[in-house]
Amino acid sequence: MAGIRLIGLEKNYQVEERMLQVLRGIDLQIPEKKITVLLGQSGCGKTTLLRLTGGLEKPDAGEIRFDTGHKTAFVFQEPRLMPWKNVWGNVTFGLRKEEIDEDAIHRIITTVGLSEFTRAYPSQLSGGMQQRCAIARALAYEPSFIMMDEPFAALDYFTRGQMQKELLRVHAQTGSSILFVTHSIDEALTLADKIAIMENGVIKAEVEVPMEKRQRDLMDNSFIDLKRKILLLLDR
Ligand SMILES: Nc1ncnc2c1ncn2[C@@H]1O[C@H](COP(=O)(O)OP(=O)(O)OP(=O)(O)O)[C@@H](O)[C@H]1O
Ligand SMILES: [Mg+2]
Repeated sequence: MAGIRLIGLEKNYQVEERMLQVLRGIDLQIPEKKITVLLGQSGCGKTTLLRLTGGLEKPDAGEIRFDTGHKTAFVFQEPRLMPWKNVWGNVTFGLRKEEIDEDAIHRIITTVGLSEFTRAYPSQLSGGMQQRCAIARALAYEPSFIMMDEPFAALDYFTRGQMQKELLRVHAQTGSSILFVTHSIDEALTLADKIAIMENGVIKAEVEVPMEKRQRDLMDNSFIDLKRKILLLLDR
């Protein structure tokens, strides 16, 4: 199956005198064109695993194997926009002038609901709008893989729900592969094709979510059963 294969990944950090084992024996297939969610509590190693997978850091052992060519974009927990550039400037920041297809950029900015704010600067946007701008920047790069680290964590309940819907729509349109980090079980159930449950630096279980994404109703019994199963796996 095409995608990214993680084989026996290990990562340690030296903190003062101590060697901290952050990831141990991580084996995971991240399938192409699907949404894979890393779910686990704070400090279990989700961000570290995402950074290794995206090539921002090197593992101490193990291998990251790409089956196909790939172009990776990141969306971090904070928007990380350039304050001196407006929405348009931020969204097109990673692109060379000759790469900028103005119609495509306008479409992306419209998709994230910022078409009225193309010339606005980050300080003139709400936190949620800034995060949507960061997502537009990732999409404008036309990545085959998007690494998203709790991108909606700072948003209110309603905006978060809207953004999840938008992400599913964009995903259906672009067919990009997504690795998505969250500690929200409901968010994982809303978005994922596959959930990798992490605990203390290991992947404790993988749960496939077979339901068609657009029709997901988390109050449906099948989802409640799945949630119960995940809660048991997370042991709380
Ligand atoms: N650069 C670093 N140097 C030292 N320790 C680090 C470094 N990055 C992460 N760690 C440690 O690795 C562990 C896992 O951190 P990581 O950021 O991957 O967790 P996380 O699952 O993303 O948590 P959260 O949900 O709070 O973001 C933590 O104990 C953290 O202190
Ligand atoms: Mg993190």
